[in-house]
Amino acid sequence: MAQPRILILGAPGAGKGTQSANIVEEFDVEHVTTGDALRANKDMDISDMDTEYDTPREYMDQGELVPDEVVNAIVDEALTQADGFVLDGYPRNLEQAEELEEMTDLDVVLMLDVGEEELVHRLTGRRLDPETGEIYHVEYNPPEDEEVEERLVQRDDDDEETVRERLRVYHENTEPVVEYYEEEGTLERVDGEQTPDEVWEDVKATIEDAA
Ligand code: AP5
Repeated sequence: MAQPRILILGAPGAGKGTQSANIVEEFDVEHVTTGDALRANKDMDISDMDTEYDTPREYMDQGELVPDEVVNAIVDEALTQADGFVLDGYPRNLEQAEELEEMTDLDVVLMLDVGEEELVHRLTGRRLDPETGEIYHVEYNPPEDEEVEERLVQRDDDDEETVRERLRVYHENTEPVVEYYEEEGTLERVDGEQTPDEVWEDVKATIEDAA
């Protein structure tokens, strides 16, 4: 395979960001993530797009989806510039899945399977290093360096109430996307409840098998 075009699916907290970082390093592809792109542009003016709110912030802080029009444009632009990629956080509903089909072909569609209570535990315990972008967990993966530990921050939408709403939105909107790829016969499931290293072994083998 030249540069692989990889889609990674999974509920909030399933480990998409964690595994995407490994994929980028191993396969030398771009990480295209709508979550990070939107967080970097939370206060972008979208009032000319006939949307309920004027910026992505209002949607994100409540755990709701940002309108398709905004997100489709971000992904289209990013994929045009990427040779190979790991796409994380998109598509999140069937309309976005159809849009993606128009934009590009995919070599691998991965799905990280993790149970609901484990997802809540992972997200409420997640911490980020604002300097390096590294993802930690207070219990599963704390930093060794005390200086790093002191500067860690929690994402605005990782409080328990918003996490539960994000999971509800996932079940309603994104599970049909998983079924869509399953019916198409392209979905590769990975047990996301193993340790991060074990998950990575399975993810890497699945991508290599698709080569
Ligand atoms: P987004 O940023 O995409 O968030 P998400 O899908 O909710 O996923 P997360 O980033 O929260 O989780 P993850 O699976 O990457 O887990 P991680 O690796 O960090 O979206 C945020 C918001 O943006 C949305 O709510 C929406 O408003 C908007 N948005 C984004 N895309 C959109 C779209 N397409 N359309 C409309 N709106 C959109 O891992 C989680 C934690 O678990 C970490 O602490 C990690 O250390 C730990 N961990 C990871 N793997 C393991 C393991 N194997 N064992 C133990 N712990 C682990």
